[in-house]
Amino acid sequence: MQASIAIKNARLYQDLNRKILELNTLHDIGKSMSLVLDLEKLLEMIIEMTSRVMGGVRSSSLILFDEETGKLQVKVYKGVQRNTPIEAISVGEGIAGKVFERGEPLMINNFGVEGAGTESDNDTPRSSLCVPLKVKEKPIGVLSVSDKITGENFDENDLSMLVTLASQIAITLNNAQLYEDLEASYLSSVRALANSLDAKDAYTRGHSERVALYSMEIGKRMNLVPEMLKTLHIGALLHDIGKIGISEAILQKTSRLTDEEYQLIKTHPVRGAAIIEPAKFLKEKVPLIKYHHERFDGNGYPEGLKGEVIPLMARIVCVADSYDAMTSKRAYRDTMEKESAAQELLKCSGTQFDPKIVAAFLGVLSDEAKMKEIERYRYS
Ligand SMILES: [Fe+2]
Repeated sequence: MQASIAIKNARLYQDLNRKILELNTLHDIGKSMSLVLDLEKLLEMIIEMTSRVMGGVRSSSLILFDEETGKLQVKVYKGVQRNTPIEAISVGEGIAGKVFERGEPLMINNFGVEGAGTESDNDTPRSSLCVPLKVKEKPIGVLSVSDKITGENFDENDLSMLVTLASQIAITLNNAQLYEDLEASYLSSVRALANSLDAKDAYTRGHSERVALYSMEIGKRMNLVPEMLKTLHIGALLHDIGKIGISEAILQKTSRLTDEEYQLIKTHPVRGAAIIEPAKFLKEKVPLIKYHHERFDGNGYPEGLKGEVIPLMARIVCVADSYDAMTSKRAYRDTMEKESAAQELLKCSGTQFDPKIVAAFLGVLSDEAKMKEIERYRYS
């Protein structure tokens, strides 16, 4: 009696532990969705967690259907097999292909010949568990695990856990895909907005696009993380968005600006920030837009911020913006050559510009292939 209760308790305890682990994993996946926007990284994390939640397996893979090739592609593989299965799998072929085709999980224990031989052969799994990944009943891939480290067979518990995980993963993948699509369409809208702004003046055509590309290259050389590069890209595209509220007659004026007109033009960073501020998803671009005319020595506008108090991305855009303005044709002056513009940046390094950023940008300027790529946006 006592013994059976003890066994029952031990089982309950085990089940509870598994549930907690499972919930933690699901929570982690949910959290990672908002933290990790890089799909590749996310997939690797998922596979890592899958193995963890099963108590350790010899191999696990996430296989997704590729609409273009019509085949299943191993996206992530973690395991000890000597022959990593990286090739494409046809629908209906092998365990993964069958599970995908039928849309039903498959659990196979004691594969092939039992006993001797299987232990030493790492390439042949002894047991496998494979479940379909579905979004709204439509299969998008499979999740597969092979051989528990403990040598135990897979059981119904493992199956139900993997099915639960698979449904979470499918939702996550779908969300990530939607997010990527959303981001792409969002970027093209931002671009259209920036282009329409540049088109207000024949001399600024392609300006925002080039400033964005120069800024990104500076950012890469300064080892900014991908998320920051994205912010820099979009923020730089929109850096002059505040000019939308300023009359074209003033923006395009070729004669000397009056004090009043100059003061009005100087309001564009603050106007730009005010335009962007209400859009939650653009929030982190506000400082870049607001402070891109601050000077390193504190003599800029709108607030006269000095040195590294000026947000890094604003300091980057400031250098890229100035270079592009110098090397672009303007109605009131000739185009400056690349070398003279570089000299000018160096001359103003430490006063107008952050020396670290000027140094990084000079590196970009010396990369001829990169410069050629960016210059394609000139007069286009
Ligand atoms: Fe500006």
